[in-house]
Amino acid sequence: MHEGSGNAIELLTADHRKVEKLFEEFERASDGEKQQELADDILTELTAHAETEEKTFYPEAMKTVSVDIKEMIEHGIGEHGKMKLLIEEIRDSRFKDGYVAQMKQLKSIVKEHVQEEEGNVFPDAEMTIPKEKLKSLARTMMGQKMAILGVEKFREIGR
Ligand SMILES: [Fe+2]
Repeated sequence: MHEGSGNAIELLTADHRKVEKLFEEFERASDGEKQQELADDILTELTAHAETEEKTFYPEAMKTVSVDIKEMIEHGIGEHGKMKLLIEEIRDSRFKDGYVAQMKQLKSIVKEHVQEEEGNVFPDAEMTIPKEKLKSLARTMMGQKMAILGVEKFREIGR
């Protein structure tokens, strides 16, 4: 996807694929250091993804989608809460003491999140949010993501 050409749903779906790929690489990695690096990337990506959904995508979707889907989004926000807590725990432990098991837990939360969104939330949002709006949301979300990823990079350097 080229900058400015995507819509919000394409952007979020691409995030999902990226995180799935990172999880696969994480599971395949045999080197402990490489594994930690991949885990760190996953945590960063998920933090940015959840932020753009909560700040930008969900509020807009809540205006247009059906009642069932609204409930699903509310449930999704609760799941994000669990996810963020787990991310914090993993970070605080500095990837020690059973963090691989926590990553597994994180993966199953993400899997459920992806199924719910791609199976139900996105199709409804795609139909009900105007096309131009989906594009402008994508621009906003890209800016938010870059701000978060920039901060994360900075945090890495300071470590
Ligand atoms: Fe998502």
